[in-house]
Amino acid sequence: MAFNSEIYNDLEVRTDLEGFHLEAEGHDDPWLKRPATDCCAALLMTGRRLQCWPLFRGAERRGNRNDGEGRCAEARIRLWRGLIEGRFLRHQIYFSTGAVIIQHILLTGGAGYIGSHTCVALVHAGYTPVIVDNFSNSHPAVLPRLRQITGQAIACEQGDVADAAFMTDVLRRYRVQAVMHFAGYKAVGESVAQPLKYYRNNLASMLGLLEAMTAAGCRTLVFSSSATVYGDPHAVPMTEDFPRSHTNPYGHTKLMIEDMLASLCRADPAWAVAVLRYFNPVGAHPGGLIGDDPSGIPNNLMPYISQVAVGKRPQLQVFGNDYPTVDGTGVRDYIHVLDLAEGHVAALNALLEHGQHLTVNLGTGQGHSVLQVVRAFEQASGREVPCQIMPRRAGDVAQCYADPSLARQLLGWQARRSLAEMCGDAWRWQSQNPDGYRFGAPAAVVPSRR
Ligand code: NAD
Ligand code: UD1
Repeated sequence: MAFNSEIYNDLEVRTDLEGFHLEAEGHDDPWLKRPATDCCAALLMTGRRLQCWPLFRGAERRGNRNDGEGRCAEARIRLWRGLIEGRFLRHQIYFSTGAVIIQHILLTGGAGYIGSHTCVALVHAGYTPVIVDNFSNSHPAVLPRLRQITGQAIACEQGDVADAAFMTDVLRRYRVQAVMHFAGYKAVGESVAQPLKYYRNNLASMLGLLEAMTAAGCRTLVFSSSATVYGDPHAVPMTEDFPRSHTNPYGHTKLMIEDMLASLCRADPAWAVAVLRYFNPVGAHPGGLIGDDPSGIPNNLMPYISQVAVGKRPQLQVFGNDYPTVDGTGVRDYIHVLDLAEGHVAALNALLEHGQHLTVNLGTGQGHSVLQVVRAFEQASGREVPCQIMPRRAGDVAQCYADPSLARQLLGWQARRSLAEMCGDAWRWQSQNPDGYRFGAPAAVVPSRR
């Protein structure tokens, strides 16, 4: 049977897990009635460049689903992978007629600290991100900087993730293949003072997003959870099966969302969800263009040290030096934000390939004390960081670090950047941008690339 490439100009790829059909609206070509794996193989044989992971995901999940003629989908997928791996972008489908179908990865809260770094990692891995952010804790000036780093204008839609109708529209317009959900509030102290603000934003945005994804037929999600779900751990290193609890409303929202996602996956196995429990993300992209830009007085250690080193604050208050640790100060698992970002790409790859529900720690597995971080920062910056020992901070634990072996096993990922790199990159960002994004030229939201 001849294959007519012309009709694929306006081809619509449907990630219909039951049928695996390729459909072209308004056309009646016999190829389109065949199982999608057949269509893919046919396209490949005619020399077209084509790759479409969602189709594979559906096919793989059903293993050796038979195409009716005794050939199994899996064998065809292997043939495909063998021929094209590494040569083509994962989510783009090219046709000889010049048509390109681009599927996007949606990053809610993608203008923020972790989302912006993940955006860079996604582009490097060959994906096309689109950001939704309401800029409640970020600045649009990050967008031209992302463009400078990646060489691409990153599409961005300004809006609230809790708005399900808006999100459904975005998911459909950008043919979103998978979502990474970063949007949310994260300041522990503020969540204690204003609990409703946290319950409202973190839970409503998750619910709005899940409703929109259901409506748009997108069921692949990476969620930003936190080591905070382990509460006060009984031991270190922490494994994913440790008991969970919460000590503040922020932590409670993470725990509730984890439970919500588990129920959803039980109710509908078509969902593929990765829950990533971050330890202490620090550092910045080495170019010094993007980084952590907390508003007001930083709550967390690394941005506070950076601001002392750059002269914005006189000294660091060290919260407690009587813990049972190497030097009496608190020990944490600091992870370079780019390692964390690459962990997201690994999780996304795993979801698109295998489609499953997984929960993993993203940490280095190594603990560093407050004073060890201070010394490393002084070395990296060449600046002195004066310290004042204070009483313990309420709610702090002595030690908290991950056992990251499950992430290595399931995702083939592990953190590789050192504490020295974390401090060096944090310093470059801080010293080049003493006032964060606020002093950058005000930038409009970059128009989308549709
Ligand atoms: P961030 O504040 O820098 O980024 C969050 C982004 O979400 C911001 O750009 C903000 O404007 C946006 N946002 C918030 N609510 C929104 C809404 N309703 N609609 C649209 N946009 C919204 O925070 P981050 O450090 O990048 O953290 C990202 C995620 O990772 C958060 O969910 C956070 O709880 C989680 N996390 C962060 C850390 C950390 O130390 N940074 C640790 C563990 C988990
Ligand atoms: C914080 C959050 C936690 C989140 C984690 C990851 C709180 C109470 N908890 O925890 O929910 O999952 O970040 O990002 O905010 N320190 C000082 N002086 C300072 C700041 C911090 O000595 O000015 C010490 C702390 O006592 C702690 C260490 O530095 O021992 C790290 O503190 P921080 O950066 O706030 O992270 P976590 O306490 O791990």
